[in-house]
Amino acid sequence: MPDIGFVNGCFMPLEEATVSVEDRGFQFGDGIYEVIRTYHGQPFQLDAHLTRLERSAKSIELPLPWNLQQWAVYVHDGIKRSSYPESKVYLQLTRGAAPRDHVFPVPAKPTAVMTVCEMKPMDPRLQASGVSVMTMDDWRWGRCDIKSVNLLANVMARQKAKQAGAFEAVFIRNGQVTEGAVSNVMIVKAGCLLTSPEGEQILSGVTRTIVLELARKEGLPVEERFVTLDEFLRADEVFLSGTTVEVLSVIRVDSKPIGAGTPGPVTLKLQAAFQRLVS
Ligand code: PDD
Repeated sequence: MPDIGFVNGCFMPLEEATVSVEDRGFQFGDGIYEVIRTYHGQPFQLDAHLTRLERSAKSIELPLPWNLQQWAVYVHDGIKRSSYPESKVYLQLTRGAAPRDHVFPVPAKPTAVMTVCEMKPMDPRLQASGVSVMTMDDWRWGRCDIKSVNLLANVMARQKAKQAGAFEAVFIRNGQVTEGAVSNVMIVKAGCLLTSPEGEQILSGVTRTIVLELARKEGLPVEERFVTLDEFLRADEVFLSGTTVEVLSVIRVDSKPIGAGTPGPVTLKLQAAFQRLVS
């Protein structure tokens, strides 16, 4: 079976996996998700992703249908069934199907969905050359720390960035950088790594945590604080972190070059350290 679907504990070919049109994820965006990738066929940082899934579920008062050990068994099983060299696992949990009413249905019957598809690595040329990003107003809701399926603002932002020829949208709230539409944002200034602090304004990325660990191991000073748009534009280096982008250099922000307009030494060092870790 190549692309795998999974609904409430049952595996099937992806094209056979369906949920009700009354599912609250579909009607209200009343749900949460995770994206996990494999390296050498093994899910990367599975525990961290499942812990965040549990935290997101708790934040929206959604009971998990299984404990984290059982989720892990399903994820491993899905990867094995897909038999791709590398897979991308999507987990989604919603408050289930019920007649449409904003108030939670009682009893809750959550819908758990998983898909396992081929993970195509990022274009190595982009990894080497770096990418451009476009800043835009962060009009997302106030709980960006919850990995909610309400991604309309992210979808609109990334589309706008794409239309402008940029790889990623970087959100600005009250004059400060928060994060990207699908990634966390880091800058290097005078040898110090700066990134937005954990809290309700960002999704604390699993990759973000790993990169900060690697940076500290490399002896790099790290400061978790918001940077202003001005600091962002004047950074020596900028890069993105995330499951799909890994560590990705940013060489232009709103068409203006960052530093020398090529991937900087600190970014390259962290990119290499990340690649060593996953290989
Ligand atoms: N997104 N910030 C946002 C808004 C994100 O959507 C993501 C990941 C990240 C990085 O998190 P992590 O390092 O845990 O992947 C930060 C996933 C990949 C997605 O929505 O497809």
